[in-house]
Amino acid sequence: MIEVANRLHTVEEYYFSKKLREVNLMIANGKPVINLGIGSPDLQPPQKVVDAIVDSLKNPAAHKYQSYQGLPELRQAMANFYKSNFKVSLSPNTEILPLIGSKEGIMHISMAFLNEGDEVLIPNPGYPTYQSVTKLVGAKGVLYNLDAANNWMPDFEALEQQDLSKVKLMWVNYPHMPTGAKPSKYVFETLVAFAKKHNILIVNDNPYAFILNQEPTSILSVEGAKEVCLELNSLSKTFNMAGWRVGMVVGDGELISHVLKVKSNMDSGMFYGIQKGAIEALNCSNMWFATLNSVYQKRRELVWQLAEALNCTFSKEASGMFVWAKLPAYMKSEEYIDMILKEHYIFITPGTIFGSQGEGYIRFSLCASTEDLQEAITRVS
Ligand SMILES: Cc1ncc(COP(=O)(O)O)c(C=O)c1O
Repeated sequence: MIEVANRLHTVEEYYFSKKLREVNLMIANGKPVINLGIGSPDLQPPQKVVDAIVDSLKNPAAHKYQSYQGLPELRQAMANFYKSNFKVSLSPNTEILPLIGSKEGIMHISMAFLNEGDEVLIPNPGYPTYQSVTKLVGAKGVLYNLDAANNWMPDFEALEQQDLSKVKLMWVNYPHMPTGAKPSKYVFETLVAFAKKHNILIVNDNPYAFILNQEPTSILSVEGAKEVCLELNSLSKTFNMAGWRVGMVVGDGELISHVLKVKSNMDSGMFYGIQKGAIEALNCSNMWFATLNSVYQKRRELVWQLAEALNCTFSKEASGMFVWAKLPAYMKSEEYIDMILKEHYIFITPGTIFGSQGEGYIRFSLCASTEDLQEAITRVS
C-alpha cells in the first residue's frame, strides 16, 4: 500500500466533483436535470479569438515551449486592458505574469509567500480554493466572517481586535463570489491601509469585474496599493474562455518575480495559440461587455423569478455570474438543494460550500439558457 502525503489528509475532494457524479448518474438514468450549480460559461468567446487560435496553428513555432512569462505582446495586451478598464498602469515587462487560469495563481502565490504555520485571512463565505491551498502549503487559514448586514465587506473593527502577528496574507475577492457584493473605493482604501499597518500581503481575486457590473475596479487603483497588494484576473468569465485557462497576476515587480520563481519551476509556458487568442480577447472593445451582459441580464431576470417562486430573497444590487439568495427562515442549504434536486430535478449550489456563513443561502448560476430557466420556473411554480 502506497501511503499518500500527510498534506492530502488536510483537504477533501472538491464538492462539485462529488456532487456532479450524483447529478450525472441522475442524467444517465434519464432524469432531465437542469444544472444551475456550476459557474462555467456556456456562451461562446468572441469569434476573432477562435480564429486566432486556428491561425496560430499554421505557425511552425506554435508547438515549441513558450516563455515562462508569456509572449511580450500578451503582457502588453494585459497592460493595455488594465489601463483602459481600471486606469491602472502596469509595466508589461515586470508587473504582469500570465497564468494558466487564475486558480493556479492561488497556489503559486501561496507557495511564494507562505511558510508552514503562517496565518492567512480567508473570507467566509468565499471561494473554497483559498482554504484548501492554504492547508496544502501547511499554513493556517483564519476565517473572517462576511455578512449581509455589512454588505459582505470585511468587518475591520473585528479584524483589528484579532491577534494579527502571524498573519502573512489576506485573500479578498471583490466583486465577491458567491454574494456578488461590489467593492466601494473606501473598502479598497481601508484594505490597503490595513495591509500596510499590519504588514500583510493582500491579494484581490478579481475574475468577476466585468459581469453585470457597471463599474469594474481594481484594488491596484488605490494610491500606494502596489506596495502591499497583488491582483488576480482571468479571461474565464470575462470572455467565456474558462476552458482555455488564461489568467494573470499583476502588481509590484518584485512581488511578481517571487511568483515567477515558483511558476517557472512548475510549468513550461502557455500554449502559443491560447496566448494569441487571449490577445484578441483582451483587445475587444466595450461592445463585447455590453453584448455579454445583455444576455446575463435577461437570464438574471428569470433567475430572480425562480428564486421568488422558491420563496427566497435576494439583492438586486449584486453583480457577477450568480444570484445569491436567502432561504426562508430555518431552512438548511444542503437539505434544501437536495430536496429541489429530488423533486424538481434542478441542481443549485448550497451556500455552505463557501463556508459556515453560507448557511441559509443558495447560489444560482447564470450559466444556463433562458429556455432552461423558463423550464425551471415552470417546474417549481
Ligand atoms: C472567486 C474565484 N476565483 C478564481 C476562480 C478561478 O478562475 P480561473 O478559471 O481563472 O482559474 C473562480 C472560478 O470559478 C472563482 O469563482
